[in-house]
Amino acid sequence: MAFSAHIGLENDLTKATVNLHTKFQIGTVDDRIFGGFLEHLGRHIYKGVYEPDHPLSDNDGLRSDLRDALNELGVTIARYPGGNFASGYHWENGVGDRSSRPTVRELAWQSTETNHFGTNEFVHLCKKLNWQPMLAVNLGTGSPEEARNWVEYCNLDAGTYYADQRVQNGDEAPLQVPVWCLGNEMDGPWQLGHVPVDEYCNRAQMAAKMMKDCDPSIELVACGSSAPRMPTYVEWDQHVMRRLGPDLADFISLHRYVGNSEGDSEDYLAITKSVEQQIESIDAAARTVAARQDTGRRTYLCFDEWNVWYRARTRKDVDGAGKFAPPLLDETYNFEDALVVAMFLMSFIRHADVVKIANIAQLVNVIGPIKTNSDGVLKQSIYHAFRMVSSRKGGQALRQAISCDSYTSTSHGEVPYLDSAAIINGDELKFFAVNRNLTEAMDLTIACADRPSSAFNDGELLSDTDLNATNTWESPTHVVSKPLSDVKLVNGQAHVELPPQSFLALSLQLG
Ligand code: AHR
Repeated sequence: MAFSAHIGLENDLTKATVNLHTKFQIGTVDDRIFGGFLEHLGRHIYKGVYEPDHPLSDNDGLRSDLRDALNELGVTIARYPGGNFASGYHWENGVGDRSSRPTVRELAWQSTETNHFGTNEFVHLCKKLNWQPMLAVNLGTGSPEEARNWVEYCNLDAGTYYADQRVQNGDEAPLQVPVWCLGNEMDGPWQLGHVPVDEYCNRAQMAAKMMKDCDPSIELVACGSSAPRMPTYVEWDQHVMRRLGPDLADFISLHRYVGNSEGDSEDYLAITKSVEQQIESIDAAARTVAARQDTGRRTYLCFDEWNVWYRARTRKDVDGAGKFAPPLLDETYNFEDALVVAMFLMSFIRHADVVKIANIAQLVNVIGPIKTNSDGVLKQSIYHAFRMVSSRKGGQALRQAISCDSYTSTSHGEVPYLDSAAIINGDELKFFAVNRNLTEAMDLTIACADRPSSAFNDGELLSDTDLNATNTWESPTHVVSKPLSDVKLVNGQAHVELPPQSFLALSLQLG
């Protein structure tokens, strides 16, 4: 049933106007902001994307129901093999004949790792799902040379030792991995091989030089701070960018996990204000370094881990106790989490000039938009928010002049009720909006100064009266988007009514 946005809430209506001009552009929205992340963790790889014994699985161990759900999610690039796992991973354990790959005790999540899924399997999965591969090298317990050898294994034509190994393992053509991360969260004491910043820079500099010497076309992501709460936040990032420079650090990484631990939903919905600040702080650091180095080049931002994660954080949730593929980080998402995920993505769009890659962490079973069991796949609430934006990718982000009411949140100060983003692509204007108001509907006007809206193409609305609503195996479609049927066009302006606590994605034709 189509959802009409005009549902007669005239008594409780706030007004918001977004003024746009199609020439006032921020930058191209990089398709790679719709990235995902797969880690050898819990039931993500084994009993997740690699389930060779499942009746629905193809020859590569991918279930057809999961493949369909992943395809629809619209992920563009996938980071692998971790995360914390990457800092203890030796890639050579995961290539070649499966029967001779070692089973090891891995130390990031205290689980048993069979290495049955590795580099070739991951890149094959990427090809199947139309994802660009993005690999994170081990700068914790691994060596810079091991990282360089991995680049040769993946990206070089046959004729040298590691590239020839790839060919022997069945992949004649190079695997073409364009983006590589120089370790993971090396500022964090929990990280295997965590070191002070100078020591990290020594390792990263050595690895980066050899990796780029091996394949100059690759782009590298240096480890930034793992969260704004870290004691070395921003200083670490600035130091790394200064030491590596934009030639070795094409990107600096940002990570962020958020949640509603206090049960304060108004405050929780304001949290993306601090995500915005995080982007702007690291961008400022990058610009400062670039100004001092004066090379005409700069390091860009790669938000390569982000999501909601606060429930599945007890010891039991993060400690595999020596088991193979134990259920870890098994977060169940509710409707308010979906609104937050939508706002993360809108933040990336609004910073299209500097955020070039972003990876939702993670994809399947582990803090994922998708869960699997032996009978099927479950699309969690956040799945729908992500898909509503990723399915409208492509174009230039537009600046917005917004007038709307705001509220005072507990920890993020004054926050506008409307959170929105706009993308122009030829004659099409794509628009996204969250109404943070928990009680009042919003009368939203979208006014484009230089080009009138001539038609409403399509739209979807994600809305629920219960912020705690979830999709469950028993009720898998409780939180899903509904088609939006009613957008009024008056004098070239679009008028939509957004219910309280809702997310809207729509496309307008411009005259
Ligand atoms: O995504 C889960 C973990 O969160 C990752 O392994 C790590 O990088 C981060 O701390």
